[in-house]
Amino acid sequence: MARVLSGIQPSGNLTLGNYIGAMRNFVKLQHEHECYFMVVDLHAVTVPQEPEALREQSEAVAALFLAAGIDPLKANIFLQSHVPAHAELGWLMTTLVYMGELERMTQFKDKAAGKEAVGAGLFTYPALMAADILLYEADLVPVGDDQKQHLEITRDLAQRFNHRFGDCLKIPQPYIPEVGARIMSLDDATKKMSKSNPVAGSYIAMLDSPDVIRKKISRAVTDSGREVKYDPATKPEISNLIGIFAQCANIGVAEVEERFAGLGYGPFKKELAEQVVAVLEPIQQRYKEIRESGEIYDVLSKGAFNASQTANRTLTEVKRRMGFLLPPGQ
Ligand code: AMP
Ligand code: TRP
Repeated sequence: MARVLSGIQPSGNLTLGNYIGAMRNFVKLQHEHECYFMVVDLHAVTVPQEPEALREQSEAVAALFLAAGIDPLKANIFLQSHVPAHAELGWLMTTLVYMGELERMTQFKDKAAGKEAVGAGLFTYPALMAADILLYEADLVPVGDDQKQHLEITRDLAQRFNHRFGDCLKIPQPYIPEVGARIMSLDDATKKMSKSNPVAGSYIAMLDSPDVIRKKISRAVTDSGREVKYDPATKPEISNLIGIFAQCANIGVAEVEERFAGLGYGPFKKELAEQVVAVLEPIQQRYKEIRESGEIYDVLSKGAFNASQTANRTLTEVKRRMGFLLPPGQ
């Protein structure tokens, strides 16, 4: 049984990209592995957040984990800020990482571009993410394609630590879907689908109503031509939609092409909308019930308790190896 850890930021609405790129794999992995899934609220505050919105979104994302099918009896669901070891190991990782490594991170470059004032936390973000993963001795980290670089820096930091202080930290592997690791924006296939895009028509939120989903998909930009053919290099827009279809219907892209051979974009988009609705509607229904029941508080408190046990063991070992004088009894 491997250890699995991943996190999602509670900032804005989660999108179909989050679901296909990451969350679906959380649900799949929980059956075979020891899993830790967290709402990374400490990462969310690397850009300004309204306190009330942060609280609401943190609860919403945790409830969505459950609604998407993560079973709290199988996996640990918790908030990053409920386990103080993250902030503490995050600091220690900040002392190990090099400025040059952080400067190369494309997520930092994208998020900092054009901003006058950029918080230092946005820059040191990967050190905290490395801590998140290393605390649990995770073998597998299910993420979308955009997190690959952060996983590489995590592996480098673990190796650097082990080299300097003796073998202790596990080197994690990314776990990235073959199709759907990068769901693109509905209005521009050169951009990743993102909850922070101000154009609502560019993404499908996991909580968009069926009618909104249908409308957004009918308006999604398509390449010229009319053939439903998967070829990301020359037909990026339709290929993105085919990828979404394949993931939602649980079939291969070749099968999608076959099903719509000679039919054109119109019928394809109509059926795509129904496939997306069929995936998201039951999640939305469960989400509503979970929010109303208040069960999430109990889940989060158990999750934080279990997570702390694992995380504190690693943190103590790291501190011992680095030469911190530990309190008596540790
Ligand atoms: P974030 O919303 O940035 O916290 O991302 C949470 C997870 O969703 C990460 O594993 C991301 O890689 C994944 N993700 C976010 N956007 C997309 C997308 N457009 N396509 C695929 N995966 C995504
Ligand atoms: N950086 C990730 C993102 O923006 C979120 C994240 C934080 C994460 N800590 C993590 C993902 C640990 C996987 C493992 O999507």
